[in-house]
Amino acid sequence: MRKTLSLPFAALALSAACVATAATTAPHLASRDGRTALIVDGAPFTMLGVQVNNSSNYPAALDKVWPAALDVHANTVEIPVAWEQVEPVEGRFDFGYVDTLLAQARQHGQHLVLLWFGTWKNTGPAYAPEWVKFDNKRFPRMVDKQGKTIYCLTPFGDETLKADRKAFVALMTHLRQIDAARHTVLMVQVENEVGTYGTVRDFGAKAQALFEQAVPAAVLQRQKSPVALAAAGSWREVYGDYADEYFHAWAIASYIEEVAKAGRAVYDLPMYVNNAQRNSAAPLAPWKDDFASGGPTYDVIGIYKAAAPHIDIAAPDIYNPESVQFDATLAKFQRPDNPLLVPEMSHAPGYGRYVYQVLGSGSLGIAPFGIDYTTYTNFPLGTKLTGKPIVEPFAATYAVFGSMQRLWSRWAFEGRTHGVAEPDDRKDRTIAMGAWTATVSFREWQFGEKSWPSHPAEFPPGTEQPNGGVAIAQIADDEFVIVGQHARVRIASTAAQGNGAMFARVEEGHFEPSGKWVMERNWNGDQTDWGLNFTAQPVILKVRMGRY
Ligand code: DGJ
Repeated sequence: MRKTLSLPFAALALSAACVATAATTAPHLASRDGRTALIVDGAPFTMLGVQVNNSSNYPAALDKVWPAALDVHANTVEIPVAWEQVEPVEGRFDFGYVDTLLAQARQHGQHLVLLWFGTWKNTGPAYAPEWVKFDNKRFPRMVDKQGKTIYCLTPFGDETLKADRKAFVALMTHLRQIDAARHTVLMVQVENEVGTYGTVRDFGAKAQALFEQAVPAAVLQRQKSPVALAAAGSWREVYGDYADEYFHAWAIASYIEEVAKAGRAVYDLPMYVNNAQRNSAAPLAPWKDDFASGGPTYDVIGIYKAAAPHIDIAAPDIYNPESVQFDATLAKFQRPDNPLLVPEMSHAPGYGRYVYQVLGSGSLGIAPFGIDYTTYTNFPLGTKLTGKPIVEPFAATYAVFGSMQRLWSRWAFEGRTHGVAEPDDRKDRTIAMGAWTATVSFREWQFGEKSWPSHPAEFPPGTEQPNGGVAIAQIADDEFVIVGQHARVRIASTAAQGNGAMFARVEEGHFEPSGKWVMERNWNGDQTDWGLNFTAQPVILKVRMGRY
């Protein structure tokens, strides 16, 4: 049975040993019972992140970055460090931008996740220095099945790997020097949305020779074949029609491993790769030019685990608004060997509700993409708005989670949290929590039942599109912290105990930085008779259930 946890305990659970080592221990991942937490300064941390637009990685752009991060109540900014920027001339490194970035992040109370745009950014070499991307002899590109040289640098370029690794090691060395005692930088993303569009793999001579060889044992161990074929042998013999994609995933992951391993040897921060996804809700099928082959799509996470043990997480970038897709993505990427992290998500308004689902699912963090005030917008992937309105779908939600961030991360690490977003079909969602079940419904007025003949036909304002979300932490057997927007929550007993159940207390309030709960008012009467009704403005409720 789950251990009962009292709030003061949760707040004070930072042990003396943790405090003593916090100042010196770099951010790292800790795992327990199949769950993982990002530990920052001795305790679990949830990244309420934003990712800036692609070209905001220059000192001159930073004054458009911080105001947006602060307006959205973020605690972490994900921002590129481009290879072309730090090594414009081979062997001559300039980390001036990184120094300015860290200094300004600290001034603005922000952590950072650095995005290493090296050999691959959205699969291409655009962010590699010119001396790399136009010297195809030394830094070869891939060759397609017809023998044509294509846009993507090959993962079999020894010189490319050597040069990328050297630059990355220089970055990590610099980072250790300026940040090992401060922990401004929490994680590093190695490359960006790797894979290849238009061809399933490299068909160059070196690639072809390796493709004919036996699948490495480590891959066989971690990656089951989707088809019943040979248990060992060549890629084709084991993986059939999936062989080309799987081989390419292995090649890219092996390359990234070399970069990450060398970087971590000098400064050991958590590292992850992000994924331009394949359709996560459709039945699995071999690559048909329908996604970037070789990227860390859900179906090849095992290959990345085998080939790149220095990469902690294969993380989904989510730009498909459909709730069915969203559910499928979280279900496929969250595994005991692969913690959930959503390092990129569209900033279109409909995605605001997904923050509840992602953080309730125990994600290490989340970051809508394109949050800065540079006036660029990636519509139709993201919002068409620019300026302050871009933060609106996220700001109030981030504010409530931010006010209890350390508590929430601890509850998530303990497996106490749950989250739902309003599905596109607007139907109820249920959450099983031990002896209790929460039912979350949407498009409800705060009073009465939809089933009443006298119930108005009109829906509450702000619910024209799916916009509801709820996250619940079960902090004790009968006690819950609930946050939400545009949703009604009812809690029923699932245990056959006594004659019935009802709310004992429904306190609206906030947590002090120390973790102490401060009640502002107790909900009762109309405020609880029709469930707990969350409106556009998220609030925190501390709810205790009782039985009679
Ligand atoms: C996903 C990439 O990782 C981002 O850098 C960006 O290009 C978005 N797609 C599109 O805006």
